[in-house]
Amino acid sequence: MEQYVIKGGNPLVGEVEIGGAKNAALAILAAAIMTDETVIIENMPDVRDTNVMIQAMESIGVLVERTDRHTVKINARNIHGHVIEDDYIKKIRASYYLIGALLGKYKNAEVALPGGCNIGSRPIDQHLKGFRALGAKVSIAHGLIIAEAEELKGSHIYLDVVSVGATINVMLASVMAPGTTIIENSAKEPHVVDVANFLNSMGANIKGAGTDVIRVKGVPSLRGTEYAIIPDQIEAGTFMFAAAATKGDVTVKNVIPKHLESISAKLMEIGCEIEESDDAVRVVAAKPLGHTHVKTLPYPGFPTDMQPQIAVTLGLSAGTSIVTESIFENRFKYVDELTRMGANIKVESNTAIIDGVPRYTGASITAPDLRAGAALVLAGLAAEGITTVDDIRYIERGYEDFDAKLRLLGAQIERITSERELQKFKLKVG
Ligand code: UD1
Repeated sequence: MEQYVIKGGNPLVGEVEIGGAKNAALAILAAAIMTDETVIIENMPDVRDTNVMIQAMESIGVLVERTDRHTVKINARNIHGHVIEDDYIKKIRASYYLIGALLGKYKNAEVALPGGCNIGSRPIDQHLKGFRALGAKVSIAHGLIIAEAEELKGSHIYLDVVSVGATINVMLASVMAPGTTIIENSAKEPHVVDVANFLNSMGANIKGAGTDVIRVKGVPSLRGTEYAIIPDQIEAGTFMFAAAATKGDVTVKNVIPKHLESISAKLMEIGCEIEESDDAVRVVAAKPLGHTHVKTLPYPGFPTDMQPQIAVTLGLSAGTSIVTESIFENRFKYVDELTRMGANIKVESNTAIIDGVPRYTGASITAPDLRAGAALVLAGLAAEGITTVDDIRYIERGYEDFDAKLRLLGAQIERITSERELQKFKLKVG
């Protein structure tokens, strides 16, 4: 029984330091095995997904040393195989980056099919199409994706859907393929740019990351580097909405405000004040919040990974709001839980119609996935009374010290593992 127990109702106030971007880190870890030289990665978040990725890399002989909590030193010179079957790796979506990285460097990869959050069907056809266009043979057998090639060759690839994973994976696989690879309709997310910058710091020749056409000129080899991962857009956004939902005043520090623009814009629209500085954004929710419409879109649109957090906040905002999910089809599973806290939300296919209520009330709820889990914690922080959130292992996949960071902002939240601790918490908060 690992749970968060929350006594809600007080506004969050203060400053919070945002860590490195999980989704950039996962791809950068995979990319780090593409050189025989040592790579040092700073601002590495210490969360379950990155730790699982590291463990999978170690299972094929990659040396990984944590020089401090957020710095890893990686050397992949003595890799002893290209088969990654580690049981844990199936649970994380980003295991697919090991296919691109191993295929790109060794022309051979066998990796267990990716899992990740259950937020709808998550095909990887575009990744495989990219590998095939580069000259690889790809098959699926015994739960493994097997990709191999005599040699890879630069190619022109048009992605049918804008996919972060496919864009990065094709970059990885093509970075050492002779000739030029052009990836059209590529994703523009900040972490796509971060992975390209990381690869370029290893000697790659990638241009156009951050636009919808990326050009990769194959280089013969990659070298060691030292690199710091960008701040996590979604962790920052989650704390920004925590400020809004609890009517608080929170400054997220160590962020790139440009990456948060779609989030800041929505917060302003519903009545929050936003103050930006070079590497911080302050969210003040002093006035009653109003309603809005929002549709998730690829970057620079509003991120699907922020959809549950905005919905939880709009559930407490006056009027009727409409949230449309256009990236994943099954991303409203948290609505049932939120309804048990008093929310008034109706879901019709990929749209949630939200009638704001004055308050939520505490309840025992379960995190259905990573981001929805975090959003339900926000609901608990805003709610009257006690909320327990079960299955927090999902939340811990992507948020480092979530409860501790919230406590620093004045939240009454504890991570508990027994009924006794629950009773103790209840006695403490009265
Ligand atoms: C990544 C993020 C995830 C985020 C998502 C969208 C990681 C580890 N995960 O997931 O947190 O929610 O981006 O910003 O970085 N699609 C296909 N075929 C493919 C690939 C994708 O049809 O081969 C579809 C997906 O089903 C989805 C859309 O394209 O509808 C976008 O998916 P994609 O950007 O690939 O998401 P992920 O990389 O899986």
